[in-house]
Amino acid sequence: MTDEPSSPACYTAEADDAYMGFAPREEILLVLNELLEAERAGARVALASARELTNEDEIALLRAVRDDEVRWCAMLFRYIRKADGLPSLKCGAFFAKAMAIGDLHERLHFLNRGQSWVARKLRELMPRVRSDELYGDLKNMLESHESNIDLTDSFLKNRPTPGGDTHSNG
Ligand SMILES: [Fe+2]
Repeated sequence: MTDEPSSPACYTAEADDAYMGFAPREEILLVLNELLEAERAGARVALASARELTNEDEIALLRAVRDDEVRWCAMLFRYIRKADGLPSLKCGAFFAKAMAIGDLHERLHFLNRGQSWVARKLRELMPRVRSDELYGDLKNMLESHESNIDLTDSFLKNRPTPGGDTHSNG
């Protein structure tokens, strides 16, 4: 009501952020940790899958995806620490689900669905991020995901069916 000299500045900043449509720090940390777990899972799926392959092009694709996932893990980890949050050390449940899919072709489809989920999360979060630096890095992460999704998609379309089998349902 009247002047509140003891009111902490951060409360005012948080209230302003909410008024401007920006997500509060806790919510951003929650999503960044969710993304961190997903990226860690994605990196592990790409690495484990690359080990099952012999074709150089396929290995190169999965290594590139893995390198990107590792890069975004590091970026997310850094921001969470910077915001005095606790980076999650968990690996997303996505890893076990993906590795339960024996057919590599199907697993890559599943990986791309996971990558699309990450892209959607990023699109939802970005307009609510106040920091220009974080926004820029999330934008790079989104663009990298869009490009890897396209690469994997075109790879899957052009990939010969293993053993000459035809999957009439696919
Ligand atoms: Fe990813």
